[in-house]
Amino acid sequence: MSPAHGFRGRHVVSADDFSKDDLLALLDTASYFESDVGPRLAGKILATLFFEPSTRTRLSFESAMHRLGGSVLGFADEKATSRTKGESLADTIRMVECYCDAIVIRHPQEGAARLAAENARVPVINGGDGSNQHPTQTFLDLYTIRKATGRIDGLKVGFFGDLRYGRAVHSLAKALLHFDVEMTFVGPSMLRLPQELREKIAAKGRLSKEVESLDDAKPLDVLYVTRIQKERFPDPSEYERIKYAYRLDRAGAERFGPDLKILHPLPRVTEVATDVDDLPGALYFEQARNGVTVRKALLSLILSDAEFPAR
Ligand code: CP
Repeated sequence: MSPAHGFRGRHVVSADDFSKDDLLALLDTASYFESDVGPRLAGKILATLFFEPSTRTRLSFESAMHRLGGSVLGFADEKATSRTKGESLADTIRMVECYCDAIVIRHPQEGAARLAAENARVPVINGGDGSNQHPTQTFLDLYTIRKATGRIDGLKVGFFGDLRYGRAVHSLAKALLHFDVEMTFVGPSMLRLPQELREKIAAKGRLSKEVESLDDAKPLDVLYVTRIQKERFPDPSEYERIKYAYRLDRAGAERFGPDLKILHPLPRVTEVATDVDDLPGALYFEQARNGVTVRKALLSLILSDAEFPAR
């Protein structure tokens, strides 16, 4: 049996909160959830509180819950809630916990998911808080990488794009610290990794290179591309100056050789040319599809006592 039963009732706020054993147990359970596992969460209710736009995270959580026989309530627009009357986030969470068994929250402020967890008696799952963390994106990223390559240890992983504001980058880099990987960071100097995270990765001996040109990042097994996080720029003119600063095209991808796996949390804007999409290693739409499988596994582990056979 999988040891993943330690997930029961647990908050999911930061990738840091999960050990290597936790992560591997979740990935094993997700493999089991590739097949139809039936209505394991009948009678359970998930609340999805989205204070920021989302396509994949909200809809894949909702799809996962429906596929497991549970139900969903929530909102995708804060303007439709009593927050507009001045209700605090803490009070909103105290109300919502009365109506559900678990909460998924996305919020523009760093730390909002932690605050929600501190005020909830039901598990809170962080669906992205500002530039900080997006742990369930990390779970599906790890799942996609392992499914495509058969391993995580021993890989050379490159991050390409907005390393400064990209929460998917921050979460995944933290989780990869549990594994024997070499990390390379590629992007404009203005969008470098936050210093604290950079130091953490370097201290663990996992920082391979920081470069501005993609060609200088070779060789890589995995390239994780992100868009520029326009909504996080304090000064819109800074975004205007840099918005076309980098792009992966087919020729650039092919210079890494046929085995390169290309991931992207999506949405894409201009940073990956559409002619990359039909390369065998372009996994980003498959990655989004895996979001339902991984979130089905996560919700089942958090909301039920069931144990699942390891892969
Ligand atoms: N990857 C991701 O978080 O996508 P959404 O913003 O559409 O949820």
